Amino acid sequence: APTSSVSRPPRALRKVFALDDFEAAARRHLPRPVFGYMCSYAETGAAFDANRDAYADYGFMPQVMVDVSKRSTQTELFGETYAAPFGFAPVGLTALSTYRGDLVLARAALESRLPMIMSGSSLIPLEEVAALHPGAWFQAYLPGDRGAIELLIDRVARTAFKTLVITVDTPVPPNSENTARMGFSAPLRPSIGLAWQGMTHPRWLLGTFLRTLARHGMPHFENNYATRGAPILSPSVLRDFSERGHLAWDDLRTIRKQWRGRLIVKGILRADDARMARDCGADGIIVSNHGGRQLDGAIAPLRALPAVVAACPDIPVMIDSGVRRGTDVLKALALGAKLAFVGRPFGYAAAVGGVPGVQHGVKLLTAEVSRNMAMLGVNSVTELQADRHLVRMPGR
Ligand code: FNR
Repeated sequence: APTSSVSRPPRALRKVFALDDFEAAARRHLPRPVFGYMCSYAETGAAFDANRDAYADYGFMPQVMVDVSKRSTQTELFGETYAAPFGFAPVGLTALSTYRGDLVLARAALESRLPMIMSGSSLIPLEEVAALHPGAWFQAYLPGDRGAIELLIDRVARTAFKTLVITVDTPVPPNSENTARMGFSAPLRPSIGLAWQGMTHPRWLLGTFLRTLARHGMPHFENNYATRGAPILSPSVLRDFSERGHLAWDDLRTIRKQWRGRLIVKGILRADDARMARDCGADGIIVSNHGGRQLDGAIAPLRALPAVVAACPDIPVMIDSGVRRGTDVLKALALGAKLAFVGRPFGYAAAVGGVPGVQHGVKLLTAEVSRNMAMLGVNSVTELQADRHLVRMPGR
């Protein structure tokens, strides 16, 4: 029988030819409030749009007639070898859109040999994800008081997780107007409209929500100390967690003293902040505007990247926000990033297709990275990172 190395994707994924195609599939599959939470951005969407515009503004200067037949997308970072120079950014509440969502992403990351950051705003206890995939990274939002910070770090330290990511771009909760327009609130409030959304999305209702209820009970916020213990579906209102607003660099120094593992700071857009994070003991930085979900009008991370890389040449600088294509990953790498994280698309992929869905997305993005490395005339990720002449502005 003829054999083919290309496996056919599951039915739901036949029309997914690129990461962006997952969005339309997720929009159909998910109730409006759940999809609304995932796709949402802050206020006017200026920061969200800027993320994509920035990638379009850089153009490639490819080198031709280079033997690229032995090229590899393999990537070394923090002593680990990953299959490609991209990973899964932390996405909150994934167990609302995908049955046991964080475990789905962790399994896909483990099998694909890619870095994955588990969200602190998850509905699955961090211990379960650590047991499945000890190499995953855990992201925390800092609780409001020092005692709670200590408890959180202690809890993470008791697991097999070795890498802690602290997200610093959320001193107060973001404006929720766009998610509210889509009918989302945290927690979700029971209503006739919500029940209707569930009934008109039966695959999600049966396969995700009722399945979770039947096997594990009502999902609760599990790892975020500000919201811990709150059920995802409840008429009550979550305790406001704006008390985080007084956190400062000293808190990062305190964490550094307590946490023996690797410490990454996510959500930096300025060279001086990057230097400060490094001086407080950060082992790596993720340049990010949270996918345009926090400060509307925040600069696109790609534009901030070169200054941050120049300010911190001695630690890995990574990036996220708006990465959708292999060419985006390659542009970020050519501007000095060690790795590019992807948020929404893999969240949608998990919702639509579970582990095979995420793996399908990984396969598409890896193929784009590899193909475009060939077009650029580079054989390895390190070669790409060493050659800043491969990209320039303007790209159009
Ligand atoms: C996020 N993001 C995020 N970041 C974080 O540090 N902790 C979190 O809990 C979450 N939660 C979250 C939920 C959802 C639904 C989205 C879409 C995003 C931000 C995320 O890690 C990343 O910075 C952006 O998603 C990157 O932008 P793109 O790839 O979505 O454009």
